[in-house]
Amino acid sequence: AIDIKTLRGTSGIVTIDPGYKNTGSCESAITFLDGEKGILRYRGYSIEDLAEKADFLEVAYLLIFGELPNKEQLATFHNDIKEESHVDEEMKKILDGFPKSAHPMGVLSSLTSALVAFNPTSVDVSSEAAMYHSIVRILAKFPVLVAWAQRKKKGLPLDYGDDTLGYVENIHKMMFKKPNQEYKKDTIAIDALDKLLILHADHEQNCSTSTVRIVGSSHAGLFASLSAGISALWGPLHGGANQAVLEMLEAIQEDGGDTKKYMAKAKDKNDPFRLMGFGHRVYKNFDPRARIIKKSADEVLGNLGIEDPILDIAKGLEKEALEDEYFVKRKLYPNVDFYSGIIYRALGIPTEMFTVMFALGRLPGWIAQWREMRLRGEPIGRPRQIYIGENLRPFVKVDKR
Ligand code: ACO
Repeated sequence: AIDIKTLRGTSGIVTIDPGYKNTGSCESAITFLDGEKGILRYRGYSIEDLAEKADFLEVAYLLIFGELPNKEQLATFHNDIKEESHVDEEMKKILDGFPKSAHPMGVLSSLTSALVAFNPTSVDVSSEAAMYHSIVRILAKFPVLVAWAQRKKKGLPLDYGDDTLGYVENIHKMMFKKPNQEYKKDTIAIDALDKLLILHADHEQNCSTSTVRIVGSSHAGLFASLSAGISALWGPLHGGANQAVLEMLEAIQEDGGDTKKYMAKAKDKNDPFRLMGFGHRVYKNFDPRARIIKKSADEVLGNLGIEDPILDIAKGLEKEALEDEYFVKRKLYPNVDFYSGIIYRALGIPTEMFTVMFALGRLPGWIAQWREMRLRGEPIGRPRQIYIGENLRPFVKVDKR
């Protein structure tokens, strides 16, 4: 419910809507979602169609510029990205400064912010051409940072990209190429990554996207706005849920696989435990992305010949929740994060990297939303409040307190 209250001390009224449950922050032509019906579309194209028929770079172009690219446009876009793929060698010193135990989301957020120092003209967004330049630069350099974060976590030497490869194929190479071995194309892994990245590419005004828009609304540059978005995504109630889901499934497995015990914990209002990967602010029906990811998890594990008991635990939990009055009444369904971690794990991505993969997928969405906000000339984001603190008080010096 929204409260309407009078601002104390000033004229006027203000709406109070904690968590912005019913407050729109902008008009947007990028992503349509109907949470009651479980519909998600990017620029009018259904997520089911895009996940099956498009590739991630096409989807990135679609989200950012509004239309699917033709062959020439896509080739130009990809070439422009390739030309910007160099990350300054000095950036490696910053990476080296982090301990191996550092969470990769912190590393990614810091490195993204640090990129500004080595690309000072990226803050110039005074024309569409300048904006385009910043966009292709970050689409080129961000995957390098992601690969660095993974290789640091795994204790592997850094690897350079290869201009002759596709966008996602190159990401796969930078993340997974073994030292002193030639890179072998792994179609199953690349296709699975492509699909996961598409499914995460945008989701209208979620916490991290709203962060990117609000930071960008002060005319902070694109890279700084993205760095803030990465931090917002990190939280376990948002993108960090994919890591939390896998840790929860592992804990259930270690505890003997008793899903009922954890269902009971999730329903107990005196227990802070929540079933991670369940529930969504907007979807009050099945998250369409979760449906696609669940099918993909089955396929990927099957194709890779992996039998993961964690997948069985996940399916068991889902089945129980869908039949449980508590979850049914509150319309709590599996969200995008419930099954994604199982695929990441099968691909050999460390658990702490899961949210980084989410960020990699969300990058085009953040960029598209930031660009839309700038092109529409939106005002600085600055919510109001209702002050509930003390009235004017006389100051008392420290020795008299
Ligand atoms: N397990 C148990 N109970 C839950 C769960 C859950 N995962 N999610 C919501 N509930 C309950 C709440 O306790 C509340 O119950 P009540 O009405 O008895 O008080 C009711 O369902 C409504 O929940 P809210 O927290 O008010 O819903 P909100 O829209 O604020 O939160 C959120 C949505 C944050 C996603 C929540 O469902 C949650 O914490 N889920 C687990 C974390 C998660 O998976 N996050 C990823 C979201 S998807 C994404 O960001 C990519």
